[in-house]
Amino acid sequence: MKNGNLAIVDSLIDEEYLRLIEAAWVKVSGYARDIVSEFGVNESATTSSAQALEWLQLASAREVTLKSSALPSGSAMSFMKLARDAYPSFLAGESNGTNLLFSGDGLQIWQDYYSSSNPFYAPLNQAAATALAGRVKEGVPMRVLEIGAGTGGATTTALNVLEQVATAPVSYLATDISTRLLRSTADTLNQRATELIEVNFEPYDFNAAPTRKQVSTGGFDVVFAVNALHNAHFLPASLRILSSLLNEGGVIVISESICCLGEQVHQEFFLNLLPLPEHRRGCSSRFLSSEDWQLAICDADLKSDIAINSVGSELVLLATVSKK
Ligand SMILES: C[S@@+](CC[C@H](N)C(=O)[O-])C[C@H]1O[C@@H](n2cnc3c(N)ncnc32)[C@H](O)[C@@H]1O
Repeated sequence: MKNGNLAIVDSLIDEEYLRLIEAAWVKVSGYARDIVSEFGVNESATTSSAQALEWLQLASAREVTLKSSALPSGSAMSFMKLARDAYPSFLAGESNGTNLLFSGDGLQIWQDYYSSSNPFYAPLNQAAATALAGRVKEGVPMRVLEIGAGTGGATTTALNVLEQVATAPVSYLATDISTRLLRSTADTLNQRATELIEVNFEPYDFNAAPTRKQVSTGGFDVVFAVNALHNAHFLPASLRILSSLLNEGGVIVISESICCLGEQVHQEFFLNLLPLPEHRRGCSSRFLSSEDWQLAICDADLKSDIAINSVGSELVLLATVSKK
């Protein structure tokens, strides 16, 4: 019989999702071929653009055949087109990907892509929210700390689920390293508070122990992390810090895109416009493998119920991590 997390992941990564991913790769590898044929080798490339070009070369060599008529649409398609159009000036060192993705149309597309209305991303948000709902106890108050909340896609999904299942007060603290993102997310989500659910926002960088009032108080029942922790400079240290913020019996719920060694994740087509974190230099992907996650959890001296989808080229990891 499948354990809890595996059952959740496998129920979300269905045939339709796999067809969508295949369709995304048809587009990504086609765009990558066009970009690579235009750019070839750029001797004067910066580290970021050289890494991005290497990724594009690998993607362009990928043989993908579409077995269905599915085609990416909506925010996924908008994101791919935005990246395709941005690559020429990015690779030439004339534009900055961070400015492009975190302002104007870029920010709106980013927000839409990471929301649960995007079928390419919904399983990551949904897997974490389902695991979170499983931690709610009848009539018992709960404190949740979300890290890397970004534009609030996972936050919205979590709040929707909590609204349905909570029977006692829930205190939800959403955090992110970026005060700018957090401010705009707070503007959108502040109204989400209900009689039972209180929502607060505070900046927090999970590479370090917290110093701000609300996070450093600790005593959380759940630390909630969707597609954020792979950015940690040293994952075991971040996991140790986060586990120290838990109540007795508390857990860290982690949902992440993962990548087998030498493989790629379609999201990287646009994420590579952002600098590659130092610790992923020289790796084929900014996302970690399932083994990387297991090692980091083990190094942090924590235990986990960890699951990845059984089928499919792109993988979703759901882990519930706790103290031994
Ligand atoms: C791919 S987005 C995650 C999406 C977000 N969970 C959502 O559902 O919209 C990664 C997020 O992690 C945040 N992040 C990256 N490094 C971080 C750090 N060291 N501490 C806190 N947040 C971080 C980024 O600012 C970004 O918002």
